[in-house]
Amino acid sequence: MSNPSLLILPGDGIGPEVMAEVVKIIDWFGVKRGIAFDVSTDLVGGCAYDKHGVPLHDDTMAKAQEVDAVLLGAVGGPAYDDLDFSVKPERGLLRLRKEMDLFANLRPAQCFDALADFSSLKKDIVAGLDIMIVRELTSGVYFGEPRGIFKEGNERVGINTQRYTESEIDRIARAAFELARKRGNKVCSMEKANVMESGILWREVVQKVHDEDYADVELSHMYADNGAMQLVRAPKQFDVIVTDNLFGDILSDCAAMLTGSLGMLPSASLGAPMANGRPKAMYEPVHGSAPDITGQGKANPIACILSFAMALRYSFDMGDEATRVEKAVEKVLADGLRTADLLGNDGETPISTTEMGDAIVAALDASL
Ligand code: NAD
Ligand code: IPM
Ligand code: MN
Repeated sequence: MSNPSLLILPGDGIGPEVMAEVVKIIDWFGVKRGIAFDVSTDLVGGCAYDKHGVPLHDDTMAKAQEVDAVLLGAVGGPAYDDLDFSVKPERGLLRLRKEMDLFANLRPAQCFDALADFSSLKKDIVAGLDIMIVRELTSGVYFGEPRGIFKEGNERVGINTQRYTESEIDRIARAAFELARKRGNKVCSMEKANVMESGILWREVVQKVHDEDYADVELSHMYADNGAMQLVRAPKQFDVIVTDNLFGDILSDCAAMLTGSLGMLPSASLGAPMANGRPKAMYEPVHGSAPDITGQGKANPIACILSFAMALRYSFDMGDEATRVEKAVEKVLADGLRTADLLGNDGETPISTTEMGDAIVAALDASL
């Protein structure tokens, strides 16, 4: 049987810096565990625009459709901010998500014990936190039509449309309930049914899916603005949160800070099963290209490394190996190793991106 295949798209800014550390982990699995992947690497985002004039070449898109899983770093940056909207780096990422139909974006926020003191929230509020945000990723206001900037009288109007079909809500609700059954058996659905028709439909469909097929799971509904507040007030009340594309984007950045840093949060974007039974999948850190720290060796590679751990778990059915990576991360943090984003201003010395990657590899060695 051939090795599982991975397409690596490091992207822009700190994307290549953090991905280089993931490659060390992938190589470690080949050498030390006999788990080899067929890895190919390609361009996405600004770097693809520089070479091809588009943020995602058709050949790259085709490759992404063929492999067992895609790993993506980050896209975007100030050099590309003034490009025409259709070729902005972010369009490359959105095309991957849409054409692969990766509708379920799993964004777990876990607070490692060693970082509980570092969160901007009080320790007892975040210690032991383990929540999962399930963000709908291929519809909603990100993709709804009509959209654009139009002339209206003597001024321009910017239009985006929030749009959800019943089947789109149905499938993301099922994904959330299935996950909840493997965790704390509790789902909180967030929308704004008080002001948006799409929110009313969202609430109705989630409730119907629950009542028909998942009545054993505890379900609650919350307006998304209250949800944001509750996430900072008492995040441990949640287990799985299911929400739409835009609310999920914002709420997951918010959840990131509960864990200490945006540099800690991984994600899995999953679609329907392929012929081989594996879900279509792309794994990416929640953070962006971090132009403010690019090229300085300051980026935290943990979010990207934990995204690879999610690939082991969700694409390759290697939950034990995923746990091995997560435990290695936990160990280096418990040993006090910190990239700059995980330190305050009290004179402690941070380690670099590559030093963090090396430390995690050493912790993996120690796990054997
Ligand atoms: P960002 O996530 O890039 O950065 C926000 C802040 O978090 C910055 O101060 C940054 O230094 C810090 N940060 C992020 N990741 C970090 C890491 N791994 N280690 C240490 N610190 C980290 O968000 P932004 O500044 O709003 O956006 C910058 C660019 O990235 C934009 O072009 C945006 O569109 C793009 N972006 C891409 C993705 C993606 O590719 N998935 C996600 C978000 C933003
Ligand atoms: C994310 C990012 C993306 C989003 C951008 C870069 C398109 O913020 O993955 O969270 O808004 O979905
Ligand atoms: Mn985001």
